[in-house]
Amino acid sequence: MAKPITSTPAVFQQTLLKWYDQNKRDLPWRGIQNPYATFVSEMMLQQTQVKTVIPFYGRFLKELPNWKALAKAKPEKVLKLWEGLGYYRRARNLQAAAQMIVRDFGGNLPDTLEEIVKLPGVGPYSAGAILSIAYQKPHPLVDGNVIRVFSRIFLLRGNLKAGEGHKRVWEIAKKLIPAKRPGDFNQALMELGATVCFSDNPQCLLCPMRSQCQASEKGLQNELPEMPKAQETVEVSMAALLIGNKGKILVKKRSHEERWLKGMWEFPSAEGSSFMEALKKLEKNTGAKAVLREIQSVRHQITHHKIHLKLFPASFSGKKKLTGEHLWASSKELRKLPFASAQNKLRDWVLKNHKP
Ligand code: ADE
Repeated sequence: MAKPITSTPAVFQQTLLKWYDQNKRDLPWRGIQNPYATFVSEMMLQQTQVKTVIPFYGRFLKELPNWKALAKAKPEKVLKLWEGLGYYRRARNLQAAAQMIVRDFGGNLPDTLEEIVKLPGVGPYSAGAILSIAYQKPHPLVDGNVIRVFSRIFLLRGNLKAGEGHKRVWEIAKKLIPAKRPGDFNQALMELGATVCFSDNPQCLLCPMRSQCQASEKGLQNELPEMPKAQETVEVSMAALLIGNKGKILVKKRSHEERWLKGMWEFPSAEGSSFMEALKKLEKNTGAKAVLREIQSVRHQITHHKIHLKLFPASFSGKKKLTGEHLWASSKELRKLPFASAQNKLRDWVLKNHKP
């Protein structure tokens, strides 16, 4: 008969921390004592994999090395440094947080839960990560990795991303967080999820927690966590206009009323239930006249939205007054503006293929 699983928070912590000390990845934000760097890295790591974040983190810290530099940077510069990382709201929040820290906290990141959650973009996960890693305070955190690891070790069934299941995961995290090395402990949990306790094919034979893992004991590791069905994909048709004049191209800044990619730049565009409808809307909004055959077509997926974007050449008389922020951009300027997602793919194509 298999030995019954016996573990205590102390055994759990010791096993995990020992494994972490011997196996942790050497990441650029580890081993530094700089709350600003920790804050930036944790904002970038939300919903994004470590290997994607690494080059962005290095560039960001080189260009904007402290709260003051970030607080007074042009929003465009911040978005440009974020270009390609996705979830651009994080970049806008990060700058707003820096401005608050400079203005209200004398340039020092606060070290209490109560104050830190007032910063834009800081939810329970980030608060736990920042307080434990930057200030060695015993605050727990829960992310997708922690949910997966706990679901297996403690054999937790049902949806752990919301409601009672989610609360349960937080309670376990609270019970387990050690007074010593809480930042390393939190990072070790995430590290285990990222490098051993994979969603598919978890590497149980290499796992330090195997003798304490209920799912592994019962052979249920591939059935956990039980996740709710993914949201159904929504198809979005978009049209964009390529309008040139004297070697320059008309581009528009996305306003703060847009549902996504606020503050990013784009070729003037509109959504519709079909490309034709989107194009008609665009012609009406801009007074431009489009050629009804697209010159380029790209696809891009943002969360559960599948975007189909077509680019149509158009002429623009300039009679209609354009609403919102527009710019006639040279190729050099076009390259420098922050573009994202499908529009970024269009820009790459235009810079390569469009001869004004
Ligand atoms: N994911 C989010 N923060 C992390 C960190 N500090 N280390 C590893 N993975 C993470």
